[in-house]
Amino acid sequence: MTRLRAPGLMRSVPGTRYTDASFLALEKERVFRRSWVVACPAWRVAKAGDFFCFEQFDASVIVLRDGQGELRAFQNTCLHRGSKLLEGGGNVQEIRCRYHGWRYRLDGTLDQVPRPEGFEHIDCSKMHLHNVRLEVLLGFVWINVEGNAPPLRDTLGGIAEELAPYRLEEMRPIQEKVFKLPTNWKAVLENATDFYHVPFVHAATISRHVNVGPVMTSYGDHTRQTLEIAPYGFRKWLDDKCSRAGPYTAAQTSTLHKYLLFPNFLINVLPYHLTVMQVWPIDQHTCELHYAFCRRQGARGLELARALATWGASRYILREDLHILKAFQEGVRTDAVRMQRLHDEEEAAAHFHAVLSRWTEG
Ligand code: FES
Ligand SMILES: [Fe+2]
Repeated sequence: MTRLRAPGLMRSVPGTRYTDASFLALEKERVFRRSWVVACPAWRVAKAGDFFCFEQFDASVIVLRDGQGELRAFQNTCLHRGSKLLEGGGNVQEIRCRYHGWRYRLDGTLDQVPRPEGFEHIDCSKMHLHNVRLEVLLGFVWINVEGNAPPLRDTLGGIAEELAPYRLEEMRPIQEKVFKLPTNWKAVLENATDFYHVPFVHAATISRHVNVGPVMTSYGDHTRQTLEIAPYGFRKWLDDKCSRAGPYTAAQTSTLHKYLLFPNFLINVLPYHLTVMQVWPIDQHTCELHYAFCRRQGARGLELARALATWGASRYILREDLHILKAFQEGVRTDAVRMQRLHDEEEAAAHFHAVLSRWTEG
């Protein structure tokens, strides 16, 4: 674990990283396909037969719980001619291809082929949907499409252990929403970790309550920012009422922890609620933000009221950011500024770009 404000940050960023289609192609091939990415929350595939189709960066992967309760991931592609098998999410007893009717068991093995006498030249009994590497950690299902990444926990540099007391697997959404945004995918993550814009974009909101910027820490490719929450008189009493899953340390209750897990997963963590933001590129000028605000399962009374109030504030602040992100991309795509320069309070972005250089050049 290393405190930032250290060499190795990238303080000048080429504008073409936000506008160049060939750079996005490199990001898809060398970053998204090679790294661990969150496919969905684990609660979405809780029961046997539950499935979710992950469709991002030109990959299509089925995440599915089989009849033995084991989570599996397969390429969403039929072994006959390659047709796509499932869409969206739901629950199935088997996977049946809509094109010529090949049927697969939930463990991915080929079960039935219509009129098999026409396939005497191949051994259908040994065929299996292509596995995709999968791990479950921190309440999320992670996949590694190319399959060669180190074990997930090793890549997180101690973050999994640090987050264990928060029991993120108990978090359930108050709201999930997908925003289609007119900006490059990286700009959304940078905006969420940049304290330099706060006095301007959030003059009437965050800036009134927080005037000391976050402290940043790096964990290999990832960063954490810790932001002290302004003191208020009855917080200790309120914290006790809202900390069913504790015990939590004073630092955990008084501090907002914001983790940016490379490449595209950002969480704001407090014991009582969780904000999840995941950003996926559509093209170099547009992206999807998958936003979720969660409270702990079973929350009621003050704990629920606090989560609902914070959700309302979170959505208001997000709206302030979405306006500026549109203006950012409109300016950047003119190519007038070849090199963007990053302030100390944009340090998480400087770290992100240094990591991105390593992945895209490697
Ligand atoms: S492509 Fe799936 S059965 Fe033919
Ligand atoms: Fe902001």
